[in-house]
Amino acid sequence: MTRDEHCNQFLKNHRLLASQYDYKEILKSFWSEMEKGLKGEDSSLKMIPSYISIPDSAPKNKKIIVLDAGGTNFRTAVINFDEESNTKIEYFEKYPMPGIKKEYTKEEFFNQIAEYLRPVLDESDQLSFCFSYATKIDSQRDGTLLVWTKEIKAPEVVGEKILANIGLALKEKGLPCPKTMLIMNDTIASLLAGVTATKFSKEFNYIGFILGTGTNCSYIEINSSITKEEGLIDNQKQAINVESANFNKIERGDIDIAYDNTTNNPGQYVLEKMISGGYIGNLCYKILSVASSEGLLSETTMSKLEKRGTIDEKALNTILEGLLSQQPDFEDCSNNDLITIKTIISEVVERAALLTATNMAAAIIKSSNSSDIKKFCVSADGSVYYKLYSFRERAEKYLAEILLPYNIEIKIVKINDAPLIGAAVAGLSI
Ligand code: BGC
Repeated sequence: MTRDEHCNQFLKNHRLLASQYDYKEILKSFWSEMEKGLKGEDSSLKMIPSYISIPDSAPKNKKIIVLDAGGTNFRTAVINFDEESNTKIEYFEKYPMPGIKKEYTKEEFFNQIAEYLRPVLDESDQLSFCFSYATKIDSQRDGTLLVWTKEIKAPEVVGEKILANIGLALKEKGLPCPKTMLIMNDTIASLLAGVTATKFSKEFNYIGFILGTGTNCSYIEINSSITKEEGLIDNQKQAINVESANFNKIERGDIDIAYDNTTNNPGQYVLEKMISGGYIGNLCYKILSVASSEGLLSETTMSKLEKRGTIDEKALNTILEGLLSQQPDFEDCSNNDLITIKTIISEVVERAALLTATNMAAAIIKSSNSSDIKKFCVSADGSVYYKLYSFRERAEKYLAEILLPYNIEIKIVKINDAPLIGAAVAGLSI
C-alpha cells in the first residue's frame, strides 16, 4: 500500500472523509429536528424563540450598555447611535469569561458580572446582553441557562435566570440596576448586525451564523410554526436560535466518539465537537495519536506532537499551509510524516467545512420556506470561519453547491464587533 492509500484507508476506517457525509441526508435530518424542536417534541435542536424580530429602522440618538459573554472573553461596552444612526463604541473593556479558568459558584458568577458592569452603570439605563450559551428566553426577554457549553465551569448557574440574578447582585452591592434589560444568543445578535449591513432593508431575509469557540445559527421563523410557544401572534415573525451545535443526527467515527468522551458533556453538542474552535485542535491531536498507533506516523514525530500536548489554532494553520517543516521542533521530521499530518488535518477541516455549509444551508432553506424573500444576508462571525486557513473558501464552495437547486441568493457579511452592534440594535429597538 502506498502512503496515500494507507492514509485514505485510515481516514475512511474512522469516518473522517468529508465524502462519507451525505449533505442531502444530513439536511433532511436537520429539517426534521428543526420541526420537532419548534413543536416542543424531543429533538437535538432546541429551536429557542428570541422574542426579537427585525426592527424597521436603525436607532438614533441613543446610548446603551452592552455585555457580551463569549467562549473565552467577557466584554463590557457602551454603544452610542448618533442622529444619523452611526455607531460609536464609547467604552470597551475585555475580561476573562467567568468559569473558563476555574469553577465559579452561582454567587461568584453573578457578582463578577456586577463588577464588570460597575464602571458603566451611569452611562445608560438600558442594557442588552449577548450571551453565547443555550438559554431559554421568556416573553420578558430574560433567559434561563439550559446548559453550559465551551467547557465553562459554573454548574450552579444552570437553571438560573441570568438578568434577574444580575439585578439581585447589583442590588446587594448597592449599585443601580438598568431600567430595561434583555438577553439574546450571539447568533441573534449576529443576525441583527447583518440587518445594519443592509441598512434595515426589507428586501433581505436574515441569518446569523457563528463558528468560533462554539458554533450555532439563527434564522427568521413565522410564529404560527412555533407551536410550542403560547401567546404568539400568528402572522408575525421572530428570530429563532437553532442551537445547532447540539445536532446529533450524524453518524460519527470512533475517534470522534472517543474524543467526545473526554469532554465535560459527553454525548451532547456533538456537531460542535466535530467542527468548532473549542474542540477541533484537540480532536486533531487525538486523531494523529491514533494514526501513530496504527503505524502512519513515526514515534519520533508523534513524540514531538506530544510535547505540545494539543494542536492550537496557530499550529493548525501552520500545518494546513504546509509550513510545519519550518518549525524548529519539526525540522528533522521525515517528509512522509509531514505529508501525512497535513493530509489528515486537511481532511478533518474539509469535513468541518462540509458540516458547516450544511448547517448554514439548513437554516437558509428552512427560512425561505416561510417567506417570499429568497435573497439572504448571512451575517457570519467567529475565528474559525475567518481565520482557519482555507476554511471559509471550502465552506462557501459547499454552500454554493448545496443551494444550487433552490433559487436562493446569498450575501455573506462580516460585521466588526457583530455581537456588540447586534445586541445594541436589539436593545434599542424593542
Ligand atoms: C452555544 C450557542 C452559541 C454557540 C456560538 C454554542 O456552544 O450553545 O448558544 O450560539 O456556541 O457561540
